[in-house]
Amino acid sequence: MTRIILLVWSLVAIACGSVSNDTPWRTGTSNCSCLEELANQQLVINDLANTVNTLADRLSQMETTVVATQTLASLDHALGTELNPASSCLHIKQNNPSSQDGAYFLIGKDGTIYQTYCDMTTAGGGWTLVSSVHEDDMYGKCTAGDRWTSTRGNNHNYPGGDGNWANVHTFGSMGSATTDDYKNPGYFSIHASNVMLWHVPNNVPPKEYKTAAYLRYRTSTGFLEDFGGSLYSLFKDHFLIGHNLGTYTHDNGPAIPIVYDQGNNTLVESLLPPNILQQHEAVPGFVQFRVFNYESACHAVCPGVNFVGGNSEHVCIGGGGYWVEGGSSQCGDYVSKDWDGYGTGHGWSANRLVTESVIMFFYR
Ligand code: G3P
Ligand code: CA
Ligand code: CA
Repeated sequence: MTRIILLVWSLVAIACGSVSNDTPWRTGTSNCSCLEELANQQLVINDLANTVNTLADRLSQMETTVVATQTLASLDHALGTELNPASSCLHIKQNNPSSQDGAYFLIGKDGTIYQTYCDMTTAGGGWTLVSSVHEDDMYGKCTAGDRWTSTRGNNHNYPGGDGNWANVHTFGSMGSATTDDYKNPGYFSIHASNVMLWHVPNNVPPKEYKTAAYLRYRTSTGFLEDFGGSLYSLFKDHFLIGHNLGTYTHDNGPAIPIVYDQGNNTLVESLLPPNILQQHEAVPGFVQFRVFNYESACHAVCPGVNFVGGNSEHVCIGGGGYWVEGGSSQCGDYVSKDWDGYGTGHGWSANRLVTESVIMFFYR
């Protein structure tokens, strides 16, 4: 502002000075005219100064508004929100180390935006819930709810079942992961090194997943790196699911040691059917993938154990579309956990808690 005033004054002074220099004999009338002009210019300068001050004030207000808007926008669009979904829970945790357990928005490889649960605190956090296996009807043998085996009945001509362990089909939702099967795009989109499994009673809401889980454990060897970085690639490219693709003595998939965050080997053993324990068919402290039984029926996962016997259908979950033993009674997501009665915990049967709980799968 001062510079503008000085500039105008200089211009007026030069103008007056030039008159004076060119016509030094002029009378006071001319000087008087110049003074009037100077006075007028002063008024113009004052008006200009006021205008500039007003504009400066408005500019300042606009700058304040822009800063406030940007701050709000950055809050609204924090990583892991619907308008700024992340690739994984680990991505969010790395971006904001103070992130807490709960629901976040992620985006799959195909651009699908989805909401899922993130465990942001176990062993450094960054665990993405990608799926859950839920038995909707133990009496329904490969019926509509058996997406992790077959929804088309026990069928010799359908040995691989629905194929959901190794395809990009998705179903269910984060909020209903304990009341139905769940599989989100993270299952095949996220490149992970380890898995974490939770055993959670049916019908528990998301905010209680962690506290309700009676078993929580994870791998720590980075084994998924050897099999493409996901369970999707493990089953699609390395350990195919299907009846008669191998034998229980030669072709079972990897048994990976686990670290417990909730529970221990003793609890895992106590939840096994008594006949499995007596015949030493399962060793606690592992999670195993792609396991065949005596009849070469194929299971996808043995939660908590390395299965070394041939009656894996009473412990392992999911798998193909055909079981040989017992007519069609072993076909389904929880296979043959009810061989000696529903939830009895006798003979080859699982107890009621195991039968009525989901297995959740996380990646990191
Ligand atoms: O899986 C158990 C089955 O192979 C044998 O059953 O009733 O003859 O002991 P069971
Ligand atoms: Ca079923
Ligand atoms: Ca058997």
